[in-house]
Amino acid sequence: MNIGILQFAPRLGHVEENLRTIAAMLRGRKFDLAVLPELATTGYNFADRRAAWESAEDRRGNSFATFAELAAVSGGAIVWGIAEKTGRKLYNSAVLTTPEGDHHFYRKTHLFFREKLLFDPGNTGFRVVEWRKVRIGVMICFDWIFPEAARTLALMDCQLLAHPANLVLPYCQEAMITRSLENRIFCITANRIGRETTRGRVVRFTGRSQITGPDGRRLLRFGRTEKAFKAVKITPRAADTKRVNRWNDLFADRRPDWYGV
Ligand code: ACM
Repeated sequence: MNIGILQFAPRLGHVEENLRTIAAMLRGRKFDLAVLPELATTGYNFADRRAAWESAEDRRGNSFATFAELAAVSGGAIVWGIAEKTGRKLYNSAVLTTPEGDHHFYRKTHLFFREKLLFDPGNTGFRVVEWRKVRIGVMICFDWIFPEAARTLALMDCQLLAHPANLVLPYCQEAMITRSLENRIFCITANRIGRETTRGRVVRFTGRSQITGPDGRRLLRFGRTEKAFKAVKITPRAADTKRVNRWNDLFADRRPDWYGV
């Protein structure tokens, strides 16, 4: 399976321009699954909730039709970040769009810093989507610091963890090695690059998108400022065994009776 990451710098509030950038970067590329950053269509550093709302879309929005077409043309599924509005609610969401035209939603569970002023806390919980016999789970950026997020997905038999991100702290790329190792899954962290300044508040993003395998090895790695789409071949079935050695199986050896407080 050919897994790609698109790392770039979305322009804050310029949804149509960001869609054109994404379409140009994916044009002619073949992949089975592509993962894009958190809030890839909108940018990140909104002045306030009203500004985020103005860039947000519901299912009828142009982004959904654009990604359905990109997925259909490439023949692969795409996970992309969006500001999603529904009724009066506004979510920091990721959508898994398949070439068949289906959209599967995940709404960010753990909001980071000023996101708490902008978005409503996600209400989907963690989900695994089986697509062409591959089991894909999604979490967004700061969800990484709660090991329960990746663990929950892994316990739901997730093989590939798609992780759209707008990382600002320096630790995540290292920590995701552990998320892969402790769950024996593939983790695909699609981060963004660049910086955004809004009303004097500067946010700098750390790039260095990566894919880590069930044995903790980095299989694909981007630079801090690199704008690119890159892909690597993996075997999702490698995530099915949780065996570490003859005597240890990471899931069978769990002792949940002792994990309560
Ligand atoms: C983050 O969750 N975007 C840091």
